[in-house]
Amino acid sequence: MTNHSLLQKLRKQYRPQIADCLSDFVAWEEKKVPCLQNDVLKTFPHISQNPILEAKKSPIKELKSLRVGVVFSGGPAAGGHNCLWGLYEGIKKYHKESSLVGFLSGPSGIIEGKYKELDDQILQDYYNEGGFDCLGSGRTKIETKEQFEKAKQTIKQLALDALVVIGGDDTNTNAALLAEYLEAENEKVAVIGIPKTIDGDMRGEMIEASFGFDSAAAVYAELLGNIARDAISSRKYYHFVKIMGRTASHLALECALAVQPNLTFIGEEVQDLQLSIKDITDEIVNLVEARAKKGIYHGVIVFPEGLIEFIPEMKSLIKELNALLAKMDQNQAIEHLSAKAKDLFLRLPQKIQQQLLIDRDSHGNVQVSLIETEKLFLELSQEELGKRGSKFSPLSHFFGYEGRCCLPTNFDATYCFNLGLAAAHIAMKGVTGYIVAIANLTKDPQDWIVKALPLARLIHFEMRKGVMKPVIEKKLVDVKGLVFKQFMKNREECKLQDCYINPGPIQFFGPAANKISSTLIIENQKQ
Ligand code: FBP
Repeated sequence: MTNHSLLQKLRKQYRPQIADCLSDFVAWEEKKVPCLQNDVLKTFPHISQNPILEAKKSPIKELKSLRVGVVFSGGPAAGGHNCLWGLYEGIKKYHKESSLVGFLSGPSGIIEGKYKELDDQILQDYYNEGGFDCLGSGRTKIETKEQFEKAKQTIKQLALDALVVIGGDDTNTNAALLAEYLEAENEKVAVIGIPKTIDGDMRGEMIEASFGFDSAAAVYAELLGNIARDAISSRKYYHFVKIMGRTASHLALECALAVQPNLTFIGEEVQDLQLSIKDITDEIVNLVEARAKKGIYHGVIVFPEGLIEFIPEMKSLIKELNALLAKMDQNQAIEHLSAKAKDLFLRLPQKIQQQLLIDRDSHGNVQVSLIETEKLFLELSQEELGKRGSKFSPLSHFFGYEGRCCLPTNFDATYCFNLGLAAAHIAMKGVTGYIVAIANLTKDPQDWIVKALPLARLIHFEMRKGVMKPVIEKKLVDVKGLVFKQFMKNREECKLQDCYINPGPIQFFGPAANKISSTLIIENQKQ
């Protein structure tokens, strides 16, 4: 984008604070780690014994120049451009001949050797900007022997010392596999991951947050707050809102805490309670009727994007379809479904049937963002309420793509710059098969603790496209955890009363500018 608004121009002037441990040259302190499971050891013999590394400030050393490649993978998330900025500043600071190459359109850019050289002039345009458009992104998976070989050739041709991969669980799993492949081939290049995804599930015990979550949640909460305000103003509509998050319900939960809608379904709880499509529909219908008795004909109901896969009967159906569609066409797949799954499939609205059959992504996942869960439950509730003769005017919304490329919050802008900087320091160390992670994120950035975690440590085995594959486990909402408990505190009260809160838009200046997500704050309280 060549034209900039006044706010974009002002945002370019924001300078992210740097963690104290990254403010100078870094000596990485090694931390002992327990042994890994056998199947992980077998899959990653060269990179699985890596120790955890912790950044410690140290006097500057003389360094050789570095040539680093970087790639965005998967869905965009606010702050990605600041990763490039931090990475570039990091490598340039210690050798002015160092250079950064950006692969175009995601991992396919590595396979096809499509890239551009990044310099000050190009990068300045993207300081504190949303999106991934400086390079573009994609969901190609570097998977086959041929693709690994092509990636190796590109890395060799460009004489890269390091490759920084910015992505979520699937991408970082690929990064681990690529690091292992290159090590086995004796190709000395450091493959380094950066945890990205608005979904907030590329985290765990040692990764506090994936970047982009904070900004996306703030956008959805703003929109949801506006919808809630409209509901109590117009007093005639029920808003069925689906909020993005392919599997985990973190974004919906964060928005529920911020806005307090009347009802929020959390996929992980639905699974825990083994709720069926009928149970969920009944809950909505009962709520509408109970509110009608009080003379209220409006409401706001939230569905996480990934809900559909948490409903046990739907989960089994999708699992069967995933395995069948990997081997046969759609019609054959329907024919080969088990009797129970077929019965459910045929009872679903035709549009949902079609959406369940659409192509899987390159990682074998069903594309839940294209399944209109909010419309499914709107239709089912409308049908039931119609039978009961109840007054009901529903509207549906999907808050998804509008949250991924916003101007990053101060948190994401700063976090991403530091993640890029940390990756630059790992590239200087020249070790491979790592992901950078920052802890203490609710504290002042100067007190952040920066680590590099061996990617193999995050991996377990899961069924994908009908085969057991190594993958990084997604962090789901813990229904016994503190964030969920906070949500439960007043959810009953929110059903019949309107306790809506309007969080308003992301603030870049003033006291609200350094606000961070409740999820991160609450999760950090336990430490
Ligand atoms: P990543 O995990 O790649 O960051 O993507 C997250 C996401 O935004 C999901 O919430 C959503 O289901 C999906 O991307 C949509 O993907 P696509 O851009 O391919 O439609």
